[in-house]
Amino acid sequence: MQRLNIEAVAAGGVAVEIDGVGKRYQGVEAVRAISLSIVPGEFVSLLGPSGCGKTTTLRMIAGLEVPDSGTIRIGGAVVNSTPPWSRGIGMVFQSYALFPHMTVFENIAFGLKMRGEPAQNIKTAVDEAMALVHLSELPDRLPSQLSGGQRQRVALARALVIKPRVLLLDEPLGALDRKLREQMQVELKLIQRQAGVTTVLVTHDQEEALTLSDRIVVMSSGEIVQIGSPSDIYNRPANQFVADFVGMSNLMRARTSSADGDRVSVSFPNGRSYVTKAEGNLAHPSDVDVFVRPESVKLAPNAGSPSGKLSGTVEHIVYAGASTYAHVSVGLAKPVVASLSQKPQDSNAIRIGDELSLDWDETDALLMPALEAGARRTS
Ligand SMILES: Nc1ncnc2c1ncn2[C@@H]1O[C@H](COP(=O)(O)OP(=O)(O)O)[C@@H](O)[C@H]1O
Ligand SMILES: [Mg+2]
Repeated sequence: MQRLNIEAVAAGGVAVEIDGVGKRYQGVEAVRAISLSIVPGEFVSLLGPSGCGKTTTLRMIAGLEVPDSGTIRIGGAVVNSTPPWSRGIGMVFQSYALFPHMTVFENIAFGLKMRGEPAQNIKTAVDEAMALVHLSELPDRLPSQLSGGQRQRVALARALVIKPRVLLLDEPLGALDRKLREQMQVELKLIQRQAGVTTVLVTHDQEEALTLSDRIVVMSSGEIVQIGSPSDIYNRPANQFVADFVGMSNLMRARTSSADGDRVSVSFPNGRSYVTKAEGNLAHPSDVDVFVRPESVKLAPNAGSPSGKLSGTVEHIVYAGASTYAHVSVGLAKPVVASLSQKPQDSNAIRIGDELSLDWDETDALLMPALEAGARRTS
């Protein structure tokens, strides 16, 4: 096996560069000419619904799939025809893929043994990797004697022990139950920081992507829809698809009038309208979706004449542990969802049937061009 010379890798400003990379399987355009640069030490997540091309992208970085078009660079060097084992990558999959007959120590040591490292170096590196993932106490256990979380830590240690230039993770926590998954997310982030390794994570779990990533790449139907920090993605979603996929959102169809300077009037089909800041990229008049997060909707008792931007009646109250949501029917296609800070036993709590006015700050809303009927991606 070819041995990777890590020191020879140019210490460039870009760890991974994907330039116009596409992949087609019989009839299916799995990935359509995507481009993305990842800087050293960065934690990037590929986020999107099942089938949007995340795994295919990761496998092309790994060298397990050959792109039909475009260029992949790792550490500045084109790797399109470099075999996986010479790319300096570590991989962890959802299925642990540990060797069942080997101990924790032997599983982690495997890659270094294959490289022909001296036994003492292997011992030092494996001990270090076991400490990093908190498995120092269990070197002699077999995979069958470990919990799901522990097995995934062995897989992570095995990927990190070779000191990869890039760590590639495909839904690594997908098989764990929710509580353990959340615990492992925190641990994974700490381990990644400590190791300082450039990491690409594939996940369909938006909370996981928001928790772990420096940047999130949102994908849909083989394309990149948005690249941004977790707060960009959450607060400034590029379109309805991202708004819908990441977090809970209200998208209310409306029509703008011609803009007056940088102000524009927004009219809902129920007859209500308000004036707000015009977005630069919108022509007027036009159909828009008004985007507002539930936590940005401010509710007030409706005393006599309606105030605020909308008004309506509370239809449902949904208790979701830490948050409570009111669904308020306002005479539009869908009720508006607002989060409430109340506890169920509060005496002045909002209740089903209450008449409320709804408002939000201009800076908490976005006007998104309405999608043509049928253009909304459903992948
Ligand atoms: N080996 C393959 N042969 C044929 N089609 C494939 C293959 N791998 C993936 N696909 C198709 O490519 C698309 C993207 O798949 P994938 O990258 O696995 O998506 P994701 O990881 O986002 O769920 C899907 O439509 C999938 O069915
Ligand atoms: Mg996948």
